[in-house]
Amino acid sequence: MCGIVGYIGYREAVPVLIKGLEHLEYRGYDSAGVAFITQKTGHIHVIKQKGKLARLKEDLRDVHLTSSVGIGHTRWATHGQPSRANAHPHMDMAGQIALVHNGIIENYAALKKELQHQGMTFQSETDTEVAANLIGSYYRKGCLVEALQKAVKRLEGFFAFAVIAKEEPDKLVVFKRSNPLVIGIGRGENFVASDAPAIMPYTNRVVYLEDDEFAILTRQNVQIFSLKTGKRVKRKPTTIHWSIAQAAKGGYPHFMLKEIFEQPRVVEMILKTRLRKGKIIFEKLDSKIAERLKHTQRIHFVSCGTAYHAGLVGSYMLGECLRVPVTTTVSSEFRYGDPTVGKHDLVILITQSGETADTLAAMREAKNKGALTLAIVNVVGSTIAREADWVIYTYAGPEIGVASTKAYLAQLATLALFSIFMAQIHPKGKIGHTKIHSLLRDLSKLPLQITETLKLETKINACAKDLYSKRTFLYLGRGYNYPTALEGALKLKEITYAHAHGYPAGEMKHGPIALIDKNQPVICICPRTSHTYEKMLSNIEEIRARKGIVLSVATRGDHAVQKLSRYTFFITKTEEMFSAVLAAIPIQLFAYKVASLNGRDVDQPRNLAKSVTVE
Ligand code: M6R
Repeated sequence: MCGIVGYIGYREAVPVLIKGLEHLEYRGYDSAGVAFITQKTGHIHVIKQKGKLARLKEDLRDVHLTSSVGIGHTRWATHGQPSRANAHPHMDMAGQIALVHNGIIENYAALKKELQHQGMTFQSETDTEVAANLIGSYYRKGCLVEALQKAVKRLEGFFAFAVIAKEEPDKLVVFKRSNPLVIGIGRGENFVASDAPAIMPYTNRVVYLEDDEFAILTRQNVQIFSLKTGKRVKRKPTTIHWSIAQAAKGGYPHFMLKEIFEQPRVVEMILKTRLRKGKIIFEKLDSKIAERLKHTQRIHFVSCGTAYHAGLVGSYMLGECLRVPVTTTVSSEFRYGDPTVGKHDLVILITQSGETADTLAAMREAKNKGALTLAIVNVVGSTIAREADWVIYTYAGPEIGVASTKAYLAQLATLALFSIFMAQIHPKGKIGHTKIHSLLRDLSKLPLQITETLKLETKINACAKDLYSKRTFLYLGRGYNYPTALEGALKLKEITYAHAHGYPAGEMKHGPIALIDKNQPVICICPRTSHTYEKMLSNIEEIRARKGIVLSVATRGDHAVQKLSRYTFFITKTEEMFSAVLAAIPIQLFAYKVASLNGRDVDQPRNLAKSVTVE
């Protein structure tokens, strides 16, 4: 996600900020900027630029201003395209304060209207500029802390802030709610950052802020306060013993593992942003598109790789919610297949990067033929996001590991919301209020259930130790978890280089059963809530009868499946529709563990690129 750096001390602030931002580059960003209070004029100077830090550094080359207090930011777009205007820092209209922000302010639209009524104008499309103006509206000389306190009490969402004020050049104020902030303690200088690597070149003594705490940093001092009580919080600094590279991965050995463990937060963020008081919210849905959605006669999912598997899960979800035909096709087949689509068709492109060449070409083909195109994309402002008729962002944050994990779960959560939304607005909606209510209830339990599922790590490690030298794996599932079987096989083959095959379990007798002997591991995805559970159980019996090694993903307490399996990975009981979300976790962890035990380059497997921008 975005990166924050702040500095107050005796050094030149700008080089410290730039160096800090460089250490956050691994997180991915689309624009960057700094703000600092100049010693000569006492004004706040903001320099920001779209693109990489190199461009920002070029702009800074001709700036000969000295400063010892400032804030910096790398932005990963959430509200508004990547552009200079949308880049941080943002100032309030009166030029009193500058702000950098990580996270999302959910009620920014209402606040923006309110501020516009007061006569304020905005230069950007961001929620951050709204927050800057809100703080500015409360600001009185010498009272930055009070202004920030008043403002955050009115904000909803997840955010971390660092603020400076022109009239208070000896102070840097920060606040945290859900998004991380770490304060670096120096001698005669102090630092703040969203992630420790940004401050580790200067100090390894740090204090982590807790939610709803703010801190006042001066050159000599750091004071932390609770927003609720207003009282001072005493917290001893801890010492970081990691290297910068280790710290970038948050202490995890690989980005892939870090991203797997980020999944509860990603899904929580999607639900908090898109689900308000039982209502599903998608931004930028104008009345024309809403009208076309209501008249959709056929839906086509088009995507590649992991995103194709998300599309398959999506086709089951929509199939459960709507009486409208749904197809799923890989982009390369769609683009060259002369697809029969027209103005009553909805073509949904799913893509993490938003730049995949085949998916882009497929989208253009669908548009040419008059279909309505919806892009479900992670990277804001990417080509597919820009060109589609409508875009829904997945809010997974930057995914660094080549093997897609958190982007996949974000796609599934988004597709679940979209399917329920379609059931609500489309005349052929198949499910009523009671079912929708129960789906939304189970959906909101997912973040905690994903956290619970991640506890399987130790058990999966033991299983991987037993099997990591095997060269072939078979994955079986039915219905919603047929795509999980495909995804499990893809994850395993791309990072371990072992052969893995995903199959619909009902097809086992039509071929793959020939593979099964005492050396063959078969991963069976078999949640109890599946309407084909008994069929899956029969498949497992058949594998056992041929002495195959059964690994199962089953619903907690399902001893029938456990008895037939060498290893069982239990997931929590949930609606069948969401079982693919929970079942994805053990198959991701299994692939990861097998790859690590084989000494593979997990984050950058051979021959693969994160974004496939050529055919
Ligand atoms: O950026 P996209 O989602 O369009 O990428 C699609 C595939 O290239 C991608 O999912 C690929 O299969 C991953 N390496 C899977 O882990």
